[in-house]
Amino acid sequence: MSDLEFSATATVENFPVKEHGIYLSHCGISPMYQGAALAARRFDRLHCERGVGVFYEFGDILGNLRNAVGRFLGVDGSNVAFLKNTAEGLSLVAAGFPFQTGDEVISYIHEYPSNHYPWRIQSGRGVALKLLPNHDLRAPAAAGGAAGEQRVGSRPGDDPLKRPIAFRTEDLEAMITPRTRIVAISHVQFTSGFAADLKRIGEICKAHKIHLVVDAAQSLGCLPIHPEEWGIDAIASAGWKWLLGPIGTGLLYTSPAFREKLAHTMAGADIVTQGEDYLDHTWQPHSDARRFEYSTAHVSQAVALQACFDDLLNRHGIDGIHARNQAHRARLLAALDPAFFHATEFAPEHQSGILAFTLRDGIDPIAFAKAAGKAGVLLSSRGGYLRMAPHFCTTEAEIDGAAQILNDLI
Ligand SMILES: Cc1ncc(COP(=O)(O)O)c(C=O)c1O
Repeated sequence: MSDLEFSATATVENFPVKEHGIYLSHCGISPMYQGAALAARRFDRLHCERGVGVFYEFGDILGNLRNAVGRFLGVDGSNVAFLKNTAEGLSLVAAGFPFQTGDEVISYIHEYPSNHYPWRIQSGRGVALKLLPNHDLRAPAAAGGAAGEQRVGSRPGDDPLKRPIAFRTEDLEAMITPRTRIVAISHVQFTSGFAADLKRIGEICKAHKIHLVVDAAQSLGCLPIHPEEWGIDAIASAGWKWLLGPIGTGLLYTSPAFREKLAHTMAGADIVTQGEDYLDHTWQPHSDARRFEYSTAHVSQAVALQACFDDLLNRHGIDGIHARNQAHRARLLAALDPAFFHATEFAPEHQSGILAFTLRDGIDPIAFAKAAGKAGVLLSSRGGYLRMAPHFCTTEAEIDGAAQILNDLI
């Protein structure tokens, strides 16, 4: 995919947000792709005009979406379910897993709540949630020094481990016991932007015969992820970050073998194969991922998310998107004043779409993000960092313009 084709995507027509500023917060709530909003509007209009007749026009909405997501992930669409959010997907997995008293789940101490509480509440079934400690895995600073050493510009006495940074794969392996059943981690940490080595973790899980469940809200649509090749049993994500879709949409991938182990914890009309024969209560649930779409779905939002996959994600392809986002990252880093913006840098295999900064003299990143917003650059702050997250719909001119505005704010 050429830069030209990305330029044809990165227009004001597709992303009207560009009229209002430079958007570098795709790790927060992304601006929705306008084609998605128009597709949903068309569905809603037909719904108003024709009632149930809207479905004759649109056909198998959820089936089409499952196939589009399957194509993007390199898996069969029957393994994908359309849900409301990441937490719903992880809750269906956690509550449905056949835990026994004394079983253990391994996660990281600073996970996003959607990938913490679904596991934590399994304590009611006697399951222990074991949390990997925070570890300073930052790459040596450009000015020299090993990971964990004082960085150029950082204040004496500043303890970087006060902020979430990363976890070590060695620690994860060491934490595994005969009672470990599941490793539940984010592909990319929402704070520091640390990307886990999922391929390696998948190998470890396979060797210990335990399951790997991934929160990909901060990676799906930005970084390549290969569920089958990497031995990932389940992936949950939100639709409104790197997928550029509507708020209140989510996806869940499950491998057939893993899915078979999960008990049903939510049920409704759409879980069974007899379709609209509602008075036939024979228990014959779908064996594919439709079993998770237990009842009436937010179909107009599925139509919208489908437009994101058809027009953008599957058209550009994840490898092209990833390469473009890496180039954006390098361009932004090269243009920002390093004496003020202290980047949290990781080795290339741990880099993601999120660039996390601490600021000179301990300046509050929340206050700085507010000032940047007023100056026309949309940023976000989490976990003590200022986060910058351009995406493939960001242009080079926007990166340069943002860096100039941010440098001028210092
Ligand atoms: C790592 C991670 N997981 C999940 C989410 C969103 O969760 P949900 O889709 O349940 O709202 C976020 C949002 O910031 C996130 O950063």
